[in-house]
Amino acid sequence: MSKTLVQEQFGKTAASYVTSKPHAKGKSLERLVALTQPQNDWRVLDVATGGGHVAYTFAPHVARVWATDITQEMLDQVKAEAHKRGLANVRTTYAKAEALPFEDDSFDLVSCRIAPHHFESIPQFLSEVRRVLKPGALFALVDNVVPAGSVGDYVNAFERLRDPSHLRAWTIQEWRDALKAAKLATEHEEQIYKTMEFSSWAQRYDDTMKALLRAMLTQVTPDVKETLDPKDANGDFTFRLCEGLFIARKA
Ligand SMILES: C[S@@+](CC[C@H](N)C(=O)[O-])C[C@H]1O[C@@H](n2cnc3c(N)ncnc32)[C@H](O)[C@@H]1O
Repeated sequence: MSKTLVQEQFGKTAASYVTSKPHAKGKSLERLVALTQPQNDWRVLDVATGGGHVAYTFAPHVARVWATDITQEMLDQVKAEAHKRGLANVRTTYAKAEALPFEDDSFDLVSCRIAPHHFESIPQFLSEVRRVLKPGALFALVDNVVPAGSVGDYVNAFERLRDPSHLRAWTIQEWRDALKAAKLATEHEEQIYKTMEFSSWAQRYDDTMKALLRAMLTQVTPDVKETLDPKDANGDFTFRLCEGLFIARKA
């Protein structure tokens, strides 16, 4: 079977996601634990686990974590890393977000962090999340969010230039509406700003592409500048992205 754009893109860079600072150290990890209060008999499903950071964060608190993804190289990294960390309750398996290979009503918590902007169908993903959650169980979602209108379109175009598998980051309001439509009742919502180091974010590219990405950050209108907040910092260059975090319950 030929690889999808996502599998191509993430297959090449799988190891870097295990060590990537915004993924491994992001503030949203500790917020997810504080907000969901995981219990030691819980079965947890982490969708699009990437380098596995949500799985490693929940594993010490719960009975079982399924770390799932469509990129085999990511799953291989997560299996090895979980073993290295002594997390014997982490299992890995292939799972497409829009067609989860799990039974109805089988998880106490489903998590998904910094991934839905790659999904072909977020409504189909949310329908699957609802299906596999036990009644009354929680969905913990984190994804990059953008402002509405042309500024959001610009941020998405900027991200897509660096990573063609980035389809579209949604606005906070789009998430509110989609969760409601999927009958997942939002109990908590917050936004977390994260500072991105340009040199590591763009490290996989040659100088021409780096210059183009940097120009997209600096030669911009005031409203884009306010959103991305580009800055020179200690010999590097930084900009800002925003994560939306939602905790929702299957009624
Ligand atoms: C940025 S990484 C995820 C980061 C990770 N969740 C974390 O918190 O560090 C995005 C992941 O989404 C996966 N992915 C993209 N589309 C997917 C889909 N439709 N179903 C499942 N996984 C998908 C990719 O293979 C990749 O591993």
